[in-house]
Amino acid sequence: MLGYFMKMNISIVGAGYVGLVTGACFAKLGHKVTCVDINREKAQKINEGIPPIFEQDLEELLSTYKQNITATTDYNTAITNSDITFICVGTPTLKNGNIDLSFLKDSTISIAKILKEKNKWHLVVIKSTVLPGTTQNVVLPLLEKHSGKKVGIDIGLGMNPEFLKEGVAIKDFLESDRIVIGYYDEKSLNTLKELYKNFNCPILETTLSAAEMIKYASNAFLATKISFINEIGNMCKKLGIDTYAVAEGMGLDKRIGRAFLDSGIGWGGSCFPKDVDALIAWAKENNEKTRIIESTREVNQQQPLRLITILKKHIPKLQGKTIGILGLAFKPDTDDIRESRAIPIIDQLIKEGANIKAYDPEAMKNFKKLYPNINYCSSASDVLNSDAILITTKWDEFTELDYKGKIVIDGRRIETAKRAKIYEGVCW
Ligand code: UGA
Repeated sequence: MLGYFMKMNISIVGAGYVGLVTGACFAKLGHKVTCVDINREKAQKINEGIPPIFEQDLEELLSTYKQNITATTDYNTAITNSDITFICVGTPTLKNGNIDLSFLKDSTISIAKILKEKNKWHLVVIKSTVLPGTTQNVVLPLLEKHSGKKVGIDIGLGMNPEFLKEGVAIKDFLESDRIVIGYYDEKSLNTLKELYKNFNCPILETTLSAAEMIKYASNAFLATKISFINEIGNMCKKLGIDTYAVAEGMGLDKRIGRAFLDSGIGWGGSCFPKDVDALIAWAKENNEKTRIIESTREVNQQQPLRLITILKKHIPKLQGKTIGILGLAFKPDTDDIRESRAIPIIDQLIKEGANIKAYDPEAMKNFKKLYPNINYCSSASDVLNSDAILITTKWDEFTELDYKGKIVIDGRRIETAKRAKIYEGVCW
């Protein structure tokens, strides 16, 4: 990613996971970045070079490039002194499955009010995941109303979705498979093309709403790929076939690819569940059918519970038994427990009267807030001292445990656990 580039002043609204990774990466690339967040403590931490979230290599980036990145709670300084603003605020799910646009609307209004006083062209780019049409139909009118200016003339507008995986987000940003630029006007397109000019990947130029849909369709497709292999995996288990050999064989077909064909107890996290829900809710409201996506979700709701069905083959009555849980994070290398597949499993175990002993290298602090009353172990090997062990997250350190003599039901395929006295995988 070398070569001449134009240094830009960038403000990032929302210093959550996407905003912070985006900001830190632009800082590394030599741009001047100001993060704006309403949370004072968060802003202070960033200024001290301490990441408020757990993400590989983020701390190193924040401290190495601290001359290029600062954080503030003050919109005015950030917007006035930058040429581009990325909006990276959260778009959480409402109870009815729709997405909550209140943070997006509030930040757009705050930006627009400052742009009213600014005498220079300014580009606003949406990075938050929003349903198709949102940038054009919600952001654009708010920008114009509160700035008194014209989008496409005084203000530029773009939609540039992120495809970052937690845990490898920095690598995903710097070595993207593709960059999608949805744009309203040519000047916005050209500015974003300049910003990404030294990236070594295809750059797709498209409409605002196509960019928005690319994000949803990508996540829904990846979730579908996992649910699909889980359904195949459930059949393979009955047939005595190793699902992973099947995934290998399918994945060698270039049209299919091996990625996201790891069968197990399904997908969690802050993105797949939320995005799948939002697409389904949108379709319902607009009288469209989402049969495939709904099935994807349904398979995912059932899949973790299969671990318990298998467990009960070996211990039919769970009442009073101690069940060890290895892994609480929704995937390894993160402390994020949102929609973790361990949650429905633990809920069911509690319902059936089992005692839980759990361990996770990073996520226990977050999990304790949800489940203060289960037993947390100080090491993974402590969990082994249980009537049976369920593997729910594929942390590396779980490969080093001594499973000999134990009953292990594996939801994530830890090869060394096969040394257990009784070993069963969810799909193998
Ligand atoms: C996902 C997408 O992969 C990113 O491209 C996207 O940018 C991001 O959502 C987002 O929308 O922000 P992430 O939620 O960090 O990233 O996690 P993934 O690595 O995709 O894993 C999601 C879930 O699927 C995890 O629970 C994981 O254990 C599970 N998974 C993944 C499988 O069960 N099997 C697989 O083969 C792969």
